Amino acid sequence: MHQQTETTLHRSVVRENPYQPHMARIVRVYNMVADNYLFTLRFVDEQIAGTFTHRPGQFIMLSLPGTGEAPISISSSPSRPGVLELCVRRVGRVTNALYRCRTNDLVAIRGPYGNGFPMEELMGKNVLLVAGGLGIAPLRSLLWYAIDNRGRFENITVMYGARTPQDMLFRDELVSLVGRTDLTCLLTVDEDPGGDWKGHIGLLPQLFDYLAIRPERTCAAVCGPPVVYRFILKRLLDLGFTKDRILMSLERRMRCGVGKCGHCSVGYKYTCIHGPIFTYWDAINLPEMI
Ligand SMILES: Cc1cc2nc3c(=O)[nH]c(=O)nc-3n(C[C@H](O)[C@H](O)[C@H](O)COP(=O)(O)OP(=O)(O)OC[C@H]3O[C@@H](n4cnc5c(N)ncnc54)[C@H](O)[C@@H]3O)c2cc1C
Ligand code: FES
Repeated sequence: MHQQTETTLHRSVVRENPYQPHMARIVRVYNMVADNYLFTLRFVDEQIAGTFTHRPGQFIMLSLPGTGEAPISISSSPSRPGVLELCVRRVGRVTNALYRCRTNDLVAIRGPYGNGFPMEELMGKNVLLVAGGLGIAPLRSLLWYAIDNRGRFENITVMYGARTPQDMLFRDELVSLVGRTDLTCLLTVDEDPGGDWKGHIGLLPQLFDYLAIRPERTCAAVCGPPVVYRFILKRLLDLGFTKDRILMSLERRMRCGVGKCGHCSVGYKYTCIHGPIFTYWDAINLPEMI
């Protein structure tokens, strides 16, 4: 598959008019977990399909007729262009409408938006990805970018926790990474009611016990529900990570996505353009960010 270089990473085809949506066709709907589907989309316009790219950690605004828009992280890697993968949890108007769609239906997409992960800073370092629940959605883009550009990164470690094996997003894909020698993939579940989980059972922070990390050579990317931030951030600081080496993907209610409406403002920053990726240092200096 064609691999993109860093020089082409952040080129958007919709730069001229950032509000302009483009129609995309749903090419696959995959039921990963109840109410957490993976949608694969391809832009109808072949030129856009061939040139659209993004930075891991960026998001798009997704809309369907009569529903409004919702920001959704791009879960696929820019190193695998041609289609966009979105891991969507069904919660409200837009996502319910999306769940009623079938293969070949059309949706509107504008973007990509947001800063994304600072890939230039991550390259050449160890990368530690820590996700809980739906937090894997934006981190998966970074994970596959790092795997597809393996020579540009030092050690790659992914730690992911789900409530049960049945709740684990991208389960087959992640389990297939566990045996690889070129990265470390540690998976855990809080509990295993079905008794068929062969991996670790316990809370996500327990996975640190299996790691030998050199914080001075490592950048950590964290995403998950509030409980993940509460425990993982403390653990990373205890290990000696500096606050500027901890990156977080943070969500706020958004409307325009391009820094115009003020809906996503936190302090003097707009989550849609200064984020959604913030360093821990940024986050503690902005009241109410976490
Ligand atoms: C940068 C970013 C990336 C995201 N990435 C993803 C992703 O990859 N996958 C994903 O599934 N989701 C993602 N989200 C979350 C997603 O955008 C929201 O869940 C969005 O609200 C879904 O739209 P909806 O119309 O379906 O739900 P809504 O109708 O907006 O409802 C969502 C939930 O919020 C509640 N709600 C609605 N309006 C309000 C209000 N005014 N105040 C408080 N609560 C309200 C509803 O009761 C419901 O529980 C992301 C959000 C951001 C900001
Ligand atoms: S969503 Fe409008 S300023 Fe961020």
